[in-house]
Amino acid sequence: MSPIRKAIFPVAGLGTRFLPATKAVPKEMLTVVDRPLIQHVVDEAREAGIEHFIFVTGRNKGVIEDHFDRQLELEFTLNERGKHADLELLNRELPSAGTTSFTRQQTPLGLGHAVWCARELVGREPFALLLPDVLVQAPRGCLGQMIDAYRELGERANVVAVEEVPPDRTHMYGVVGVGERRGKAFSITGMVEKPPRGSAPSNLIITGRYILQPEIFEILQTQERGAGGEIQITDAMMRLALNLPFYGFKFEGRTFDCGSKIGFLAANVAYALAREDIRAEFRVELEKLLGEK
Ligand code: UTP
Repeated sequence: MSPIRKAIFPVAGLGTRFLPATKAVPKEMLTVVDRPLIQHVVDEAREAGIEHFIFVTGRNKGVIEDHFDRQLELEFTLNERGKHADLELLNRELPSAGTTSFTRQQTPLGLGHAVWCARELVGREPFALLLPDVLVQAPRGCLGQMIDAYRELGERANVVAVEEVPPDRTHMYGVVGVGERRGKAFSITGMVEKPPRGSAPSNLIITGRYILQPEIFEILQTQERGAGGEIQITDAMMRLALNLPFYGFKFEGRTFDCGSKIGFLAANVAYALAREDIRAEFRVELEKLLGEK
């Protein structure tokens, strides 16, 4: 059994970098190949042993809730037409009854605030936090790798996934300071959200996957706005790190920042090339396009 049973998926942001696509469609429902971003991330959590999926939603996000429900009319039509494989796929991916919860963040005040909105649903236990606009392509899912590390690090540990970026890009992310090694992880000496250029403690950035202790909720309750005028999870984690151990974990795999256009397009290419059913044909099309440039 996984020591982490619950996961939060914050999906209440405005997705302004993807306008006009995200005017009526939530960013989390944009597709990488044939699955919405949120489905990719829920799959990663399920593979890691998560049993309860908690979504922090907002206005215009109802379609995310529908995505994790049955669609009886569609099922009926697929059945009538003998499309049993498609039907089977839909049913296989559906979370079991009672394993999803949805709560609202009425105003998108920042990621820290979105997490705080899930406090009652999480209760007093450690939980995972997955950002749906970060995809990690890996033989074993990133969260699964982190939970393996968490088992070694002890049950009061907090763990954040980290990856290297070129030093001239650290000002756009949450950055960690690197302490002593512990297996595949290292203790974190400090964290800073969007450090001014030249002031970052390292070039390791926090990458959209977290395992956190429930004390974070009390801290978030009083957390003031930080970088960008938003309530930042990194600021709250810094305060939590004063009392509880915090570790960075360098996972195996490649990340795609699907909140940015380039990351999203690259994810589509990489995931299509990884799919046996479309790889060969897609490669031919890609080569044709590249040949024309
Ligand atoms: P982002 O900052 O990448 O998403 O947050 P955004 O704000 O929607 O996008 P831009 O910058 O305007 O283009 C990462 C995740 O956290 C959620 C977002 O929905 C996204 O999945 N989020 C962010 C919230 O749920 N609430 C917030 O207040 C902020």
